Amino acid sequence: MSERWTPASWRNLPAKHIPTDYPDEGKVAAVEAELRRMPPLVFAGEARRLKSLLGDVAAGKAFLLQGGDCAESFKEFAADNIRDTFRLILQMAVVLTFAGGKPVVKVGRMAGQFAKPRSSPIETVNGMTLPSYRGDNINGMEFDEASRRPDPERLLRAYGQSSATLNLLRAFAGGGYADLYNIHRWTLGFVEGSPQGERYRELSEKISEALSFMAAIGVTPESQPDLHRVEFFTAHEALLLGYEEAMTRVDSTSGDWYDTSAHLLWIGERTRQLDHAHVEFMRGIKNPIGLKVGPTLEPDELIRLIDALNPEDEPGRLTLYGRFGSDKIAGRLPMLMRTTRDEGRNVVWAIDPMHGNTLTANNGYKTRPFDRILAEVKSFIEIAEAEGVHPGGVHLEMTGQNVTECLGGARALTEGDLADRYHTHCDPRLNGEQALELAFLVAEKLKAERLAGLSHQAAE
Ligand code: PEP
Ligand code: CO
Repeated sequence: MSERWTPASWRNLPAKHIPTDYPDEGKVAAVEAELRRMPPLVFAGEARRLKSLLGDVAAGKAFLLQGGDCAESFKEFAADNIRDTFRLILQMAVVLTFAGGKPVVKVGRMAGQFAKPRSSPIETVNGMTLPSYRGDNINGMEFDEASRRPDPERLLRAYGQSSATLNLLRAFAGGGYADLYNIHRWTLGFVEGSPQGERYRELSEKISEALSFMAAIGVTPESQPDLHRVEFFTAHEALLLGYEEAMTRVDSTSGDWYDTSAHLLWIGERTRQLDHAHVEFMRGIKNPIGLKVGPTLEPDELIRLIDALNPEDEPGRLTLYGRFGSDKIAGRLPMLMRTTRDEGRNVVWAIDPMHGNTLTANNGYKTRPFDRILAEVKSFIEIAEAEGVHPGGVHLEMTGQNVTECLGGARALTEGDLADRYHTHCDPRLNGEQALELAFLVAEKLKAERLAGLSHQAAE
């Protein structure tokens, strides 16, 4: 780490997964200067609000639901896509709130989730080798030399798209679309006739009945405006530090530095080296931040990372996203949870059940079996309960579109189905039906936890 943190102090340290092959570094600097003049996408006060809600999660009083595309793209950018992912998150949150009896903190992997760390810097197809695709804000996915060349102008386009996305999300969240009285209307067309759609319909009827009852006793949207809107936050992996630095500004209220590109930023599994650039940058911004925790992270290193990233032990500042794989979680998570618990660290423990469960199908598609995703979430909740730690949330790659990217689920998607609607620009996502099924499973688990907690209290 540097002696003194500045938004640029990361530049003195080694950095992984940041492109170094721009044809003209002068253009990169000019784009970054232009970004520095752009308005902030989020405000420091909003980031503080999310930190305080995540503090509730750390204290076991709320649950985090985070989800969206693996990688946003210029091609899939459309109002309908944003709306569909947003309403899927609302539906899942209703399911989780109803069962868990706790507020759900809603965070979209949206409005800035472009850059991707890749396992290999090059890709070979039919004997031709080119740089890998690294996200639409760096280069293009098409397999030709011009597309794969990094182009800094893409950063400006990504900023513009993030801004438009956030504008729509703000309108949806505050402008009546998220009104709890609209709960029946959130179901996506293709989910409607499915078993999950049916379960959701039953649940939304119960909630509508409860709303009518509340109206009868005088609790109406007029007396309780919160029934009309939701709080919704954005997040992405802070990978391209030049972009993040340009979006980092001093907050005039507190005098602190905030990265205004999103409410929450996280450090990926491949860039969490203590003495490298990403940890350096992230330790200095005041936003709530996240850290991916994979199967190779040892407890002592985790504590050193927590010391660097949350030295004041602020609740809500740091969320740990376990991402081990359904076959590895039982061998790794218990000791890591024990360590944070025994050392008394205020962190949120959440699970990313996607990134440890990726495989290549026989026909070459990168995919994820839904049953392994569910298995990792189940193990996460069971391990957390056994260790006396709150299972704080889930972080998912998902879309409201009816894609065929992950295997299994209620419609039992097979390898042969993957080609039908495989649209992701990076990793395979849960479709609306699979995501809702996962929400019901988590809800059942949380309900069991809540009831066990109640009977425990009664017995005391
Ligand atoms: C991601 O969240 O898209 C990602 C790359 O995850 P990880 O850093 O955990 O591999
Ligand atoms: Co991914």
